[in-house]
Amino acid sequence: MKLRDKVAIVTGSSRGIGKAIAIGYAREEAKVVVMARTEEPGQSRLPGTIHQTAEEIRALGGECLPIRCDLTRDEEIEAMVNTVVERYGRIDVLVNNAAIILHSSVADTSFKLWDLLIKINVRAPVNLCKLVLPHMVKQRNGSIINITSESARDPAGLTLYGAGDAALERFTQGLALELKEHNISVNALDPGRVKTEGALYTYPEDTDWTGWKEPSEVAPAAVFLASLVDTNFTGRVIAVEDFGKTWP
Ligand SMILES: NC(=O)c1ccc[n+]([C@@H]2O[C@H](COP(=O)([O-])OP(=O)(O)OC[C@H]3O[C@@H](n4cnc5c(N)ncnc54)[C@H](OP(=O)(O)O)[C@@H]3O)[C@@H](O)[C@H]2O)c1
Repeated sequence: MKLRDKVAIVTGSSRGIGKAIAIGYAREEAKVVVMARTEEPGQSRLPGTIHQTAEEIRALGGECLPIRCDLTRDEEIEAMVNTVVERYGRIDVLVNNAAIILHSSVADTSFKLWDLLIKINVRAPVNLCKLVLPHMVKQRNGSIINITSESARDPAGLTLYGAGDAALERFTQGLALELKEHNISVNALDPGRVKTEGALYTYPEDTDWTGWKEPSEVAPAAVFLASLVDTNFTGRVIAVEDFGKTWP
């Protein structure tokens, strides 16, 4: 099993890509921290709760810890990391997956919504890295995976979301350089177009879904990145699409 006994935090794992990565990690015997805001059906406009993901993991015989946490709240992020360390004593993998998407133009987006995007998509991943670092440095091992998108490089129609993902990709590359000496890898993974609950809700009704992936197709690439034991593969901005072709 590729992730036996590793402790992995997957943000935004109540549904979509985060849920699929959490299940993929549990199948490889990681202890998975399932983290998002939704605990009960109906709390969100979208289906999926942290406890439903946890139930699916346990049904597979996996180990997990569901934690409710709102990434816009610093104190909840800190409490979540403390709970993980109290329970498992270590943190090996952090997947910064949770994000919101904004389809509106700059002219049509309020300051408030732009602030929210930066808070969830950029500020929270940076702060979470900061909080897990002392544990990974102490262990002299760790893998951080920041989920980004092609909008970081081609922001057509998604200017503000693309700006956030571009920031996360540059952060990934800078942090990888800072952490190489501590044997911690940091990579950005672009999942490609994935038919998730979030995508189904936010894209227009007439969207042609041909060629969109299922969330489970993202898991193998995310498992590979979580299983890294040295920093021979770090600071990379890679796409699921190319896994097994141009990388590793
Ligand atoms: N789907 C695609 O085609 C696609 C393409 C390129 C990149 N991506 C990237 O892949 C990642 C996942 O996308 P997805 O399509 O799976 O999204 P999704 O279906 O909308 O799921 C988003 C997840 O983020 C969580 N989340 C949102 N706001 C949060 C907050 N304030 N605090 C904690 N958790 C929060 C949600 O949980 P709660 O609502 O329960 O909190 C949910 O679990 C994102 O980074 C996205 O940018 C997706």
